[in-house]
Formats: sequence, C-alpha cells, structure tokens
Amino acid sequence: IKKIGVMTSGGDAPGMNAAIRSVVRTCAFHNIECVGIYRGYEGMIEGDFKPMNARSVKGIINKGGTVLKSARSKTFMTKEGRKTAYQKLTEANIDALVTIGGDGTFTGAMVFNQEYDFPIMGIPGTIDNDIFGTSHTLGYDTALNTVVEAIDKIRDTASSHNRLFFIEVMGRDVGHIALNVGVGAGAEEILIPEEDLGLDRLLESLRRSKASGKSSSIVVVAEGDKIGKNVFELKDYVEEHMTEYEVRVSVLGHMQRGGSPSCFDRVLASRMGVKAVESLLENKTNFMVGLLHDKIALTPLDKAVKGKSEINMELLRVSDIMTT
Ligand code: F6P
Repeated sequence: IKKIGVMTSGGDAPGMNAAIRSVVRTCAFHNIECVGIYRGYEGMIEGDFKPMNARSVKGIINKGGTVLKSARSKTFMTKEGRKTAYQKLTEANIDALVTIGGDGTFTGAMVFNQEYDFPIMGIPGTIDNDIFGTSHTLGYDTALNTVVEAIDKIRDTASSHNRLFFIEVMGRDVGHIALNVGVGAGAEEILIPEEDLGLDRLLESLRRSKASGKSSSIVVVAEGDKIGKNVFELKDYVEEHMTEYEVRVSVLGHMQRGGSPSCFDRVLASRMGVKAVESLLENKTNFMVGLLHDKIALTPLDKAVKGKSEINMELLRVSDIMTT
C-alpha cells in the first residue's frame, strides 16, 4: 500500500478532525502518501481529492465538524456510482481507504469492498454510539458533555419557574445519549427506545415527584423513544392530566453535534487513526477500529454494522434510585 485515502461520511461528529489528523500523520510517519477525499462518497465519485501531508492537518485537533466535509450519498448506493468511485480512486492511485462515519458509511464500505476487493478500514464517528465493536464512537463523549451542559442551563430556568421540561435529545434509534445525560443531569425520568416506560408510569412518576416536594422536573426523551408520542404531544398529554406543572419543551437538535471535541474524543481519535493505517499496512482489510475494555481492537465491518450496541440498563436503575 502506497497511497491511502481518508474521508468522513454521514452525520459529522466532534473528533472527526482529530481522526483525520491522526490518519494523515500516521501515513507521514510511515512514508505513505495520504489523500483527503471531500464530502464522503459524493466527493469520491466526483474525484474531489486533495493530497495531505503532516502540516495540512495542523490546528484541527480541537475543531468540531470535519474539514473534509461530509455527506450522505445516494449515488454511492447505486452500482453505477460505486463503479465511478472505483475508477476515480484508481486514476488517483489510491490503493486503500480509511472511512470515518457510522453504520451507513460502513455498509457502503462493505459493499464496495465486496465488489472491488478494495482495502478498507472503518473508524466509528457518530454521536449516537450505536455501533457494535466499540464502547465509544467518536463524538459521543463530547455530545454527552454538550447535552449535560445544555440541560444544566435549562434546569436553572425550570426551577425558577417551577416548570416541567421535556428535553428531546438525539441518538437516532438508540438511547445511549438520553440515558447517560439523564443520569448525569439528574433527570426525573428518561425515555429511551430500549424500554417503553408507558404513559401511565410517566404520570405516576411525575405525581410522585411533585408529592415528594419537587417543584420542577426534567424529563429527557430520546428522539427514537417508543412511548408513542413526540415531545410536543407529551406536553399536551401531561398538561391534560396534571394541572400541577407548567410544561415546556426543548428540542436540542444539531447543537449536540457541534463544538470542540473532549480530551477523551481527541485521544480516542488519535489512537484509532494510528491503528487504522497500521492495520492496512499489515494487509488487514474490512475491519472497524474500536475501543473494547480500553484497548484498541478490530471488529469485522459486517459485525459492526449488524451487531447491536448494548445499552447499559443498570443506569436506568441508578436513575430510579437517584430520583427518590
Ligand atoms: O447520526 C447522527 C444524528 O445526529 C442522529 O442523532 C440524528 O437522528 C441524525 O443524525 C440527524 O440527521 P441529519 O443531520 O441528517 O438531520
């Protein structure tokens, strides 16, 4: 392997830049050429490439987003699109790929690898933490800190006005963010897709909390939760059934994906980038680099995509005990 392409794809996440920096510098360390591919698979299809050296990634370890930009490419899902991508990579003499993203990114990478036998390593970058084969995806830790900080601020106003807040957080189909920030910010209830609390138990819990002397409350709602009502419908429902609280809703949205990466994410990204490049140089392919029991480990891409990232149910119990 003489020239490695690096790209970011899917939803951006804090720590992606630190991972790009690590891939580029590990290539430089091993005297391998490195090329940045812009806008994920979209840029690959268009041949939007730029040679990168150790100095091209200066000053980005602390930056959110991704300097290589990102996209969710529909064209790469077609055979034609992947054929063009392969032609562009071959024309540019790129002979291996490090792809930083989530399960959509890895699914595309796997199909591409099957069709063209192209050497690929994946680095998990998504705030959702929904990838099997790693305890932490890049950006997850930063997002938790960002969200906890936002909830702390909402709590100030909630308690000043004796209000109940439903706060919707991201996470797609999983409740990792909701569960952890719920415990970290001391939420009264946490609604996650992995466990349907049910409307009756939600009301019961809010009544109990009011009766115990609490004047304000925070309920964290994962965007993918299964209670059957969105946060605005939940507000209406609770106001209908409980007159004790004035209810407000806050949907945190894309601010959760931005900001400077935490030290944890920067270190993790640096470790993952080194491992990704060095694994390709050892002729390994079709793996994802992950963190398991604080060790950097490889998981086959298909397992990373198909496997389930287990939620820590113990945290739900901890939350219950903390809100007595
Ligand atoms: O996967 C990251 C994520 O932020 C999810 O939490 C969220 O469901 C989704 O992306 C939002 O996607 P978009 O930025 O395309 O609206």
